[in-house]
Amino acid sequence: MDWDPALETGVEKIDLQHKSLFKRIEQIQEAGRNGTSAQELLNTLIFFKRYVSEHFRDEEELQLEFAYPKYKEHKEAHRIFMEKIDELFDKCHDDGVNLLTIMQTNKTVYDWLITHIKKVDMEFADYYRRKKRGMI
Ligand SMILES: [Fe+2]
Ligand SMILES: [Fe+2]
Repeated sequence: MDWDPALETGVEKIDLQHKSLFKRIEQIQEAGRNGTSAQELLNTLIFFKRYVSEHFRDEEELQLEFAYPKYKEHKEAHRIFMEKIDELFDKCHDDGVNLLTIMQTNKTVYDWLITHIKKVDMEFADYYRRKKRGMI
């Protein structure tokens, strides 16, 4: 799960946050392989959720600041994702916290972030660049 340069948006603050999100996902994956207890892993994942929501908030603030026309859609995508994470966490609890479901949850978060960055965040980054250059 190395950082893929294709995920670079060119917006420094966002890129730094994305990198640190991926580092955390990697650490959780690593911890799972090293036999950290399922409960501990779940706690780490819950903690990670806070970072994700802080990142979303920062991104949304930047979009407001730059009068991004797709702000509402983007914010809605973030909201749906946070809801999805909560569902996954509930499922982890209901199924009895075990390593497999937690690792799967971690992988789902990872996949979602990649898809979101490549499409939705990139779209904003493109707007941000053009706005900064005075093109729009
Ligand atoms: Fe993002
Ligand atoms: Fe985003």
